[in-house]
Amino acid sequence: MHFGVDYHPEHWVFPYAGTADKPESRWERDAQLMVAAGVNVVRMGEFCWGLYEREDGKYDFGWMRRAMDVMKLHDIKVVLATPTAAPPVWLAKKHPEILPLDDRGQALHEGTRHAYCMNSDLYWDHCRRIIRAVAENLGGHPQLIAWQIDNGVGGHGTECSFNVETQRDWHAWLEAKYQTVDRLNEQLGLRFWGQTVARIKDVPMPMHAPTVHNPALMLDWMRFSSDTCVAFVKMQADILHEITPSAPVTTNLRALTRHFDHFDMAGVLDFISVDSNATLKHKSAENAMEIDLLRSLKKENVRTPDGEGGFWVIEQKAGQVNWQDVNSLVRPGVVRLFTHQLLSRGANGVLYFFWRQPRIGSEQFYGGVLTHDGRGDNRVYREISQLGEEVRKLAPALRGTRVTSDVAILYTHDNEWALKLPMQPTKHFNLRDHLQLFYNALHGRNIPVDFARPTEDLSKYKLVIAPSLHMLAGGEADRLKLYVQNGGTLVATCNTGLVDEHTIVPDTGYPHDLTDLFGLEVREFDVLPPSEDNHLVLKGAFPTTHLHPARVWCDLIEPRGCQVLGTYSKDFYANQPALTMHNYCLGRAIYIGTLSHQPFYFDLITWLRQLCNLMPLLKVPDTIEVSMRQKGDTRIFFLLNHQNSPVRITFYKPMHDFLTGTTFTGTYDLPPHGVLVLDEQGLRG
Ligand code: GLA
Repeated sequence: MHFGVDYHPEHWVFPYAGTADKPESRWERDAQLMVAAGVNVVRMGEFCWGLYEREDGKYDFGWMRRAMDVMKLHDIKVVLATPTAAPPVWLAKKHPEILPLDDRGQALHEGTRHAYCMNSDLYWDHCRRIIRAVAENLGGHPQLIAWQIDNGVGGHGTECSFNVETQRDWHAWLEAKYQTVDRLNEQLGLRFWGQTVARIKDVPMPMHAPTVHNPALMLDWMRFSSDTCVAFVKMQADILHEITPSAPVTTNLRALTRHFDHFDMAGVLDFISVDSNATLKHKSAENAMEIDLLRSLKKENVRTPDGEGGFWVIEQKAGQVNWQDVNSLVRPGVVRLFTHQLLSRGANGVLYFFWRQPRIGSEQFYGGVLTHDGRGDNRVYREISQLGEEVRKLAPALRGTRVTSDVAILYTHDNEWALKLPMQPTKHFNLRDHLQLFYNALHGRNIPVDFARPTEDLSKYKLVIAPSLHMLAGGEADRLKLYVQNGGTLVATCNTGLVDEHTIVPDTGYPHDLTDLFGLEVREFDVLPPSEDNHLVLKGAFPTTHLHPARVWCDLIEPRGCQVLGTYSKDFYANQPALTMHNYCLGRAIYIGTLSHQPFYFDLITWLRQLCNLMPLLKVPDTIEVSMRQKGDTRIFFLLNHQNSPVRITFYKPMHDFLTGTTFTGTYDLPPHGVLVLDEQGLRG
């Protein structure tokens, strides 16, 4: 288990933070404080190009090697980043064509970070050169255990640019995809508004224009930009694999907020690393969903530095951020709680951002493990030191364990991009909110969840939930059918199968290619303003604890063999189906034609739990988050109290807590933000 910090030795070497004789002695002090806090790994170097190469071709890696040597003296491992996220000023001055152009053709200028166009050949050449130089000069250092590629790829909205070289690559991408201009005109539907082109080279980039671009063209642009980001990372991974084959590569990802396909990105990495901004949210299920989304990106062929599966948190915020309107301190115990939440969901490495608040630069008021004074007698340092001790205790028990799940929620980037296009039936539909409603209900019942693309092997899941796969490729629809045919239970919802992978609406009825699976056809759909509700009238075995509204979107469903479990209560579609179930071969296909409030999803999960024989991990009060890591018969349970008040839990068997080493039985008051890590031996009593 790796426990560490994001360290920026360059913040202290100039002006010297040590003495005139020993200018780098601050590094030594940092390493001592790190070791005392339980740190065994640092990430360094993500913005150092301009320091490694102050002038074109004049390299200086000596200072970083010395920083790594200091780490060696203290037995601290190093993840080194390639420095391509921050090209040096001299490079942009010499070759301004590397600067990215925005959708109005304006350059984003040098002087910060991410000022590069990912389609620039020249930028690629310079990246290859600096990566080789870094890897050849520092890659052989005994402390190096992994590489981080770039930093926050696509950050600050730089996933795409509108440069001449981007246009060249765009046309080559379209050429490879469509081959002929006729096919391109047809599949992109360019005859709409008479925008057909005579040559593939005439296809515009979706630049600032009087009104919206063609949706199929926009979707391809997103796919092309995504492929560009992935290719940029793969180019770096290939060089690093060649020079240092034993060091796995990663890059720091956020919870699917950047405009590239994170599953594709995961495919070119050896392991997933995440930036956790958990300080932002207060609902545990929201943080948990983000973690599960990221955890799910790479399910196979994971290669972390210590041979474990799972993922790393390469930037866990140690304190306050600097980009909200009000950047309050993170309350005592909260970083600890978030760290255990990450561990409980599969993290095998956690590094805090950052080691010490810098005295310089735009992030000088960002929280750090150390405050500006660097003394190491501050509150956050003490909290991180306690965590270091806890992680040391937990590491042997967690070795080889992983998170497993019987339920998958389906997600694709193509679909989310399609749903975010302008001119949709309603602006009030939000896919993430829709996913969160299902996720919250599963999380509230302590049922673990994976996220998956429809094209993955779904056969291992007892239940698959597919919220609003508005854009559904033919191949994806086939996979869903196969899953149900073989006995799976699939839940789909309104706004499914309205367009295919070419962004073309079917003329065979919605949801396209799935009307037989669900035994119904959606003939029309009504969308409701936020102030209006319809209502659901539910029948049969479906449990109802509340009167459930139908909101935002109401499909008007014509049954074709499905069983009707619920209807709408009013409007011209009163008594028409809203919730249906269809037996299909060995499985069941359930369709929810609308959205509702949170209690509906709790009722739904109660019903599905019985239908699919899903077991909650533990029975504890609702406000406690439970997750589990498992290896064979060993099962380690994490119980987290996200509330500001204690929660009483009753244990009917003796429990063993790894953090305190105590065994207890009966009632236990889990304090505010408290954590228990229990093992099954204890549970068996
Ligand atoms: C990301 C970056 C860091 C830092 C933080 C600030 O996580 O990787 O370098 O800028 O954002 O939030």
